[in-house]
Order: sequence, then C-alpha cells, then structure tokens
Amino acid sequence: MVRSKVIAIDGPAAAGKSTIAQKVAQMLGYIYIDTGAMYRAVTLKALNEKVDVTDEETIAKMLKNTTIRLTNDKKVFLDEVDVTDAIRQPIVSQNVSAVSAIRFVRDELKNRQIEYAKTDNVVMDGRDIGTNVLPNADYKIFMTASVDVRAKRRYDENLRRSIACDFETLKEEIELRDKLDSTREHSPLTKAEDAIVVDTSDLTIDEAVDAIINIVKKGGEV
Ligand code: DC
Repeated sequence: MVRSKVIAIDGPAAAGKSTIAQKVAQMLGYIYIDTGAMYRAVTLKALNEKVDVTDEETIAKMLKNTTIRLTNDKKVFLDEVDVTDAIRQPIVSQNVSAVSAIRFVRDELKNRQIEYAKTDNVVMDGRDIGTNVLPNADYKIFMTASVDVRAKRRYDENLRRSIACDFETLKEEIELRDKLDSTREHSPLTKAEDAIVVDTSDLTIDEAVDAIINIVKKGGEV
C-alpha cells in the first residue's frame, strides 16, 4: 500500500498558514485541512450552547456528539450547518485557546485529523501537527511572521469580512493567543526540531507558496 503524503504547516496565529496552505494544496492536488477551524468550531458550539469554555467535562460530552466537516474550498460545517464565517468572530478567537487547552478536545480532534491523513495526501495546518499529530509528516514547515505584520493581516481580513475591530486590540489578542498556545500543558505550539522555518513577514502570498513548493520539490531541504 502506498502511504499518503503529509505536509504539516504549524505556526502562530495569523502567520498566513491557512491561505498559503490552501494554495499549496491546490497546486499539488492535496486535500487541505485547517485544524484551527476544528478547534474554532468546537468553541462556537460551546458558546452557542452557553457552556463555560473551561468546563472540560461538559465540553467533552458535547464533542462526542459533534460532527465537523471541512470542505476543500475552506468551508466548515458544524453538525452540518455552515459556520465558515461564524467561527471567525472575535468572540470565538477570544475563547478558542481555552477550549484547545482541554486534553479531551485535543485527543479527539487529533484522532479525527489522523483519519484524514490515512486516506488522502494532505496539507494540514495548525499548531502541533509536525510535533504531535503527524510527527512522521513528509514535510514540516514552521510558518511565522512579525506580530505587527500578523495583526495587520488579521485586521485586513476582518475588514473584508465586515467584522468591526481595532488594530491595537487585535495585536494584543494575537500576542495573548501566542502566549496561551505556546505555554499550555498539552501539545503547546513549538517548532518541531526537523521543521523548516518560513518567515512570511516580507513575502507575498505567492512567494510563500513558492517557498513551500520548492521545499517539497527538494525533498524537505531548504
Ligand atoms: O489557526 P487559528 O488561529 O484559526 O487557530 C485557532 C486556535 O486553535 C489557536 O489559537 C489554537 C488552536 N489550535 C490548536 O490548539 N491546535 C491546532 N492544531 C490548531 C489550532
């Protein structure tokens, strides 16, 4: 049996992972999996159901009866309802670190992510893909950018989606989320030892996509 190929792209919030990963997937004919969207979907459901986002037991129970479906054109379905835009709301961003720190949530979503990679060639983006979910990934990228560049990108994205926001507040939120994601107990955001760093601060989207395609062509070397 031919094993499917995996490109893992990890990195902090708003480094450009999802836009770039989706384009890389398109170019290679791979399936794109946005694991952050899965954590966001669980968070949205908890908020909708007025569950305290630190209530591990209730969230675990809720997740057992939750379906999350990702489509290759970046749509996200939570229990078969389209939540593609709803999961990007600031209230979800503000609560997602708490939900993603819950052990059961991480284990359950990890299992679902591993299933995706069993049958298809995937580009999977997240925080712990190369370190924890798929440590045998064929290619590991750690994508980063300066905090100012990341905040500006998120700001522009919010404007496009008609989400009201303030640049300085967004920057503070991103810094806080980086801190929470990097210091949590279970599979924190860290660069895998064998990951290649791609800093997108001064790169256009197409340049970053090319950088990754080149890494893949060279067999995982810079
Ligand atoms: O990539 P994003 O900003 O949409 O991710 C939302 C949150 O989900 C992020 O703050 C941390 C969490 N996350 C995670 O813990 N592990 C992943 N593999 C992906 C995301």
